[in-house]
Amino acid sequence: MAGDGEVKELISSLRVYLEELQETGVDALPFVQPASAPSRATGKAEEGSASPVRGETLDDVRRELEECGRCQLGNTRTNLVFGVGNPAARLAFVGEAPGRDEDLQGEPFVGEAGQLLSKIINAMGFERSDVYICNVLKCRPPGNRNPQPDEIEKCHPFLLRQLKAIAPEVIVCLGTFAAQTLLQTKAPISKLRGSFHDYHGIPLMPTFHPAFLLRNPAMKREVWEDMQQVMRLLGKEVPKNSK
Ligand code: URA
Repeated sequence: MAGDGEVKELISSLRVYLEELQETGVDALPFVQPASAPSRATGKAEEGSASPVRGETLDDVRRELEECGRCQLGNTRTNLVFGVGNPAARLAFVGEAPGRDEDLQGEPFVGEAGQLLSKIINAMGFERSDVYICNVLKCRPPGNRNPQPDEIEKCHPFLLRQLKAIAPEVIVCLGTFAAQTLLQTKAPISKLRGSFHDYHGIPLMPTFHPAFLLRNPAMKREVWEDMQQVMRLLGKEVPKNSK
């Protein structure tokens, strides 16, 4: 156990180090996963905990959702739609919730909106298998209704842990529900899109949902502008005269 003197010395060196960082222009540090606090009663990490466990893998998070009964959607889903793609992806896309096709196949964004998302991913110079794709909700809301606040609240900790396990360099939120959930805001997507926001130290770009683009093709230009910003951040070449 460190004595009082040692602790004071440590704090003082840490302060000097942080001041040095600040002088070099660093004004924020990336979120560091804290070790999950063990339950006093059991000595194990709490079940369904929102705190990411150090070194937690996607499979660890998925296992906790396999038999999930935290909200009513577990009773009506066909399959859990956890997420798909590269577990060490540089780029992660977060959508709203599985639809009919996704529920049947157990994979996010495989329907019409998913085909458009694949085209966007390809236009950015990636394959679907390079990136990671998931949703705020892991189970289909019946009839594709909007996610309910209690469903989002129950599922959000798992999304957080999922994103911490992947640790992408950039997150793209597709549509209102993803952007508002991750950024904890009620601001409309039209105001949020177009610039990067901070999500636990990870740059997050909100943009319009592909399903919205299918109904409003004129808005594809805005999404492409947003994706060009993401490409630049990831060091991807943006084609000249790209509109
Ligand atoms: N829309 C979404 O938000 N997610 C999917 O997986 C499919 C459609």
